[in-house]
Amino acid sequence: MDHFLYRDGILHAEDVPLPGIAAEVGTPFYVYSTATLTRHYTLFKEALEGLPNLVCYAMKSNSNQAVIKVLADLGAGMDVVSGGEYLRARAAGVPGARIVFSGIGKTAEEMRLTLEGGIRQFNVESEPELEVLSQVAVSLGKTAPITIRVNPDVDARTHAKIATGKSENKFGIPIARAREVYALAARLPGLQIVGIDVHIGSQLTDLAPFEAAYLKTVELTRMLRADGHDIRRLDLGGGLGIPYERSNTAPPLPTEYGALIKRITGDLDVEVEIEPGRLISGNAGLMVAGLIYVKHGEGRDFLILDAAMNDLIRPAMYDAHHDIIPVIEPEPGVEQAPYDIVGPVCESGDTFTKQRHMPPLDAGDLLAFRSAGAYGAVMSSEYNTRPLIPEVLVKGDHFAVIRPRPTFDDIINRDIVPEWL
Ligand code: LLP
Repeated sequence: MDHFLYRDGILHAEDVPLPGIAAEVGTPFYVYSTATLTRHYTLFKEALEGLPNLVCYAMKSNSNQAVIKVLADLGAGMDVVSGGEYLRARAAGVPGARIVFSGIGKTAEEMRLTLEGGIRQFNVESEPELEVLSQVAVSLGKTAPITIRVNPDVDARTHAKIATGKSENKFGIPIARAREVYALAARLPGLQIVGIDVHIGSQLTDLAPFEAAYLKTVELTRMLRADGHDIRRLDLGGGLGIPYERSNTAPPLPTEYGALIKRITGDLDVEVEIEPGRLISGNAGLMVAGLIYVKHGEGRDFLILDAAMNDLIRPAMYDAHHDIIPVIEPEPGVEQAPYDIVGPVCESGDTFTKQRHMPPLDAGDLLAFRSAGAYGAVMSSEYNTRPLIPEVLVKGDHFAVIRPRPTFDDIINRDIVPEWL
């Protein structure tokens, strides 16, 4: 459930009519609902009730500081994947003790930054990374708490570009080699083993791959404990999918996911961490675009929007589906016609969808892309010198711009033309 509903025929974000926001900030823009963010985070907390746990929001999915603050104020931890994300989380008020640092390419500089600033744990993904982290920790006179990310060789049955748990993927240490690598970690100075980490992919719509990966992780926990390691945390990653297509069957609910985790890890006496991103932020956001032209082409018609692939790249990059609905509710039973819905960028990949049935629309109408709160604004760029679009946060009947649209001057003045040219 989200808080984007038609009221009196006008699409609202919570209690705010979207045309009002469009009039104030212009189109296109992203809009997020505080109530939806809160609800999704709370669903995970409730699902894990009874187990010691920390829900670490994967802030790569939407890292606006206002969004982070909504979640941090509820007690959320953060999963960060760069020094920049770490500093952003800290700037939004998240204590270091609630931040886990994931990613296969942490630099020594990022390790220094986070160790000095305070960090809950590093999820380490390779032997060379273990060695560098050990050196950095020793040089600072600190101890780095670590888990090692294991690759369980499980097929997440999701889009190939976002599957991470197969042996051919670049992530983690093959689970078969885990004991050897934990032994190395135990020998290296400056490191303290605190647990195991596993993350098999994103937009999973089935619990079976989670179950397979978690069962292997539990088995490994017992083995590593028998080897004398103090495994007290399991970071079970993120990845639970969301219903992008309302008309399709729904992925499992956080309650079902939580029940699975409790069933599998319940008697291990561990603290569980999870790293959901998309399920918290995805359906908490819309992208709202204006219709520039209705173009009648050879055998097909196009809706040309003022938003483009640079603003929401998921359709171009993953062939992703986003429901697209008019901000003014169509009359019931109105006849629909197929359109290709496209942006103005000069490549054919700038197509949001092909032959989507839509009600009659005119230039100037507003369209909302659903499920755009995750991996939308964060993946946008200024390709074609199109300014990054603003982000707006709604709470009840008020809203605020939480990232303004840059001016053309802002963009153009960033370039430096060398004097010697
Ligand atoms: N933890 C780790 C280590 C991850 O790599 C990811 C996502 C997550 C947690 C959060 O996964 P989520 O709960 O959001 O599925 N840009 C792509 C998705 C990339 C996901 C990358 N890793 C998309 O738009 O579909």
